[in-house]
Amino acid sequence: MAGLTRLNRRDFLRIGGTGVAGVIAGQAWPYTPAWAAEGAKAPAYPVTDIGPLAAVPQGAAIEFNYPDAESPAVMIRLAEGAKDGIGPGNAVVAYSTLCTHKGCSVAFHPEHKLLICPCHWSTFDPAKAGGIVIGQASQPLPQIELRVAGGNVQAVGVKGLIYGRHTNII
Ligand code: FES
Repeated sequence: MAGLTRLNRRDFLRIGGTGVAGVIAGQAWPYTPAWAAEGAKAPAYPVTDIGPLAAVPQGAAIEFNYPDAESPAVMIRLAEGAKDGIGPGNAVVAYSTLCTHKGCSVAFHPEHKLLICPCHWSTFDPAKAGGIVIGQASQPLPQIELRVAGGNVQAVGVKGLIYGRHTNII
C-alpha cells in the first residue's frame, strides 16, 4: 500500500480503479481458504442427510443448510419433473436460498411454483435449474445436487457459486 501514497491525483485517475484493484489483488486475499492458499484441490463436498424422501409432500419446502451451517438452502417437491430432479417423477430439487443478486433470502411460492426474492423481486424457476424468470439477478440460483440413499435424500454437491463466496467450500 505504500506505493499508493506516492500516486498523485492525475496518476490515480489515469490508472483508474481497475489498476488499483490489480495492485490490491497482488496482496494476500484475506478470505482465501487454507486449502486454496496451499495450492491444493478443492475438498470434496460433504454428504448431508436432509430427510426421508417419503416425508416430502408435493408443494412442500424443507429448509436445510448446505454445504455448511452458513449456507441456507431449500428442498422442494414440485408437481412435475424438474431438471436434475430426483425421486418419483424427478420432482424433488434443492437450491441455495441466497439470491444471486445481493444475497437476500428467496422463498418458495407454491402458488406460482417459483422461488421469489422479497428484496428486488428476482424470480427463479426451480423446475429449470433455478433459471431467472425476471428480476435484477444475472445468475441462476445454485442448485444443490441430491441423491436418494436408503430412502433418505442426501445433498452431495452444488452447481453454481453460492452468493457472497468465491468458493463454495470454505
Ligand atoms: S437481493 Fe434478490 S433481487 Fe436483489
